Amino acid sequence: MNSPFPLHPQHRFPPGFVWGVATSAFQIEGAAQADGKGESIWDRFCRQPGAIADGSNGDQACDHYHRLESDLELIAGLGVDAYRFSVSWPRVQPLGQGAFNEAGIVFYERLVQGLLARGIKPYLTLNHWDLPQALQEQGGWANRDTVQHFVAYARHVAQRLGHRVAAITTHNEPWVMAVLGHESGIFAPGIRHRGTAMQVAHHLLLSHGLALQALRADGCTARLGIVLNLSPIGPATPSPEDVAAARLEDGRSVRWYMDPLFRGEYPADVWQHLGADVPHIEPGDMAAIATPMDFLGINYYTRGVVSASGAWSAQTSGKPLTDMGWEIVPEGLTELLTRLNRDWTLPPLYVKENGAAFQDTLQEGRVHDVERTDYIASHIAAVGEALAQGVPMAGYMVWSLMDNFEWASGYAKRFGIVHVDYATLTRTPKDSYLWYRDFLLAQQAHRAAATTA
Ligand code: FCB
Repeated sequence: MNSPFPLHPQHRFPPGFVWGVATSAFQIEGAAQADGKGESIWDRFCRQPGAIADGSNGDQACDHYHRLESDLELIAGLGVDAYRFSVSWPRVQPLGQGAFNEAGIVFYERLVQGLLARGIKPYLTLNHWDLPQALQEQGGWANRDTVQHFVAYARHVAQRLGHRVAAITTHNEPWVMAVLGHESGIFAPGIRHRGTAMQVAHHLLLSHGLALQALRADGCTARLGIVLNLSPIGPATPSPEDVAAARLEDGRSVRWYMDPLFRGEYPADVWQHLGADVPHIEPGDMAAIATPMDFLGINYYTRGVVSASGAWSAQTSGKPLTDMGWEIVPEGLTELLTRLNRDWTLPPLYVKENGAAFQDTLQEGRVHDVERTDYIASHIAAVGEALAQGVPMAGYMVWSLMDNFEWASGYAKRFGIVHVDYATLTRTPKDSYLWYRDFLLAQQAHRAAATTA
């Protein structure tokens, strides 16, 4: 089926709206030990028996590191305005402090040059989870020293690339690194301690604010911000217990990040709930965290539903599910974006990740991923609806350019709009890729018509 989703009027987006596609270093690059790269906490975590569903690791991944030119052609073939990628800290600075690795930074220079040569804006993320293992040995993000090491790393990357990239994101999804990495322990570094998780979240936010200040002082011209994973959180039933539980979860996952970034304070209800697990804060920290940003990035996949008894399950909610078991709720994205706009004073907002895993079949060189196409089209429409309701939306990016290493799920979950055969590393654009390309062509035609009208 070709383009099963007609372009509705609400799919018209303002000129200057940035369309993109996203990846991250650890998930696609491979080349885990090439050219002086250091070990990351994900390299180490993958070696823990049982940590990754299929027992896999990032050693080869999509081998993007060695296939840069052809992958650039895939990105260009989509007709996107922007490509969001992350820099692997241990590739650029193997021990996380001290000496930088020139070969590592040269790889990202080639990537940025290749994008610019194709008219694509580079959107760079400094930390998409792959902390140098050497820093973890000193306590990782729980150690306040890591804040200053991150600022030094950020300054080095910005000095080399800051004038050529359109945007720099400090951290991708601090909640995931803090809570999944240090409270539930299902992600690297696999720690299970709530107090540690809250200290990690504080250090991530602090390092974000201090990095912004340092990059601005250095004259960095890229626009600076952070990317949060957020969902609208609602109660499973109207019972007071469920409503209270949902409010607390909204506090822990949304307000714990939005309030410090945009108001310079942590939410009092969550603070009280945490008891002895509250983070240690030093004078000046909150003001640094609230350093104004040029943009806010949001990653959206599904809604959150909370029941006090824990009885609610996405599996029985009646909504369609992705291969991750996540409910498909495009209207949740509109709900989230309008709520953010109502409760905080926002800079331009970007959806920096949105997409879905499904079990694809590659047949005669095609992947007819109708569900993924439907998912993307309906979420783009949800962004259009938020725009119509006055939210300052500035861009949208699909997760992900290609199938890749989906963290604790390994290679079993495929989020790409390009299929990757992991045995041969052959890339095959799926129907969703072709749909997005055609959608972007139509957007360009609207833009051209608007400028000549
Ligand atoms: C997000 C991550 C991204 C990818 C998607 C599915 O939480 O930022 O790397 O794994 O989920």
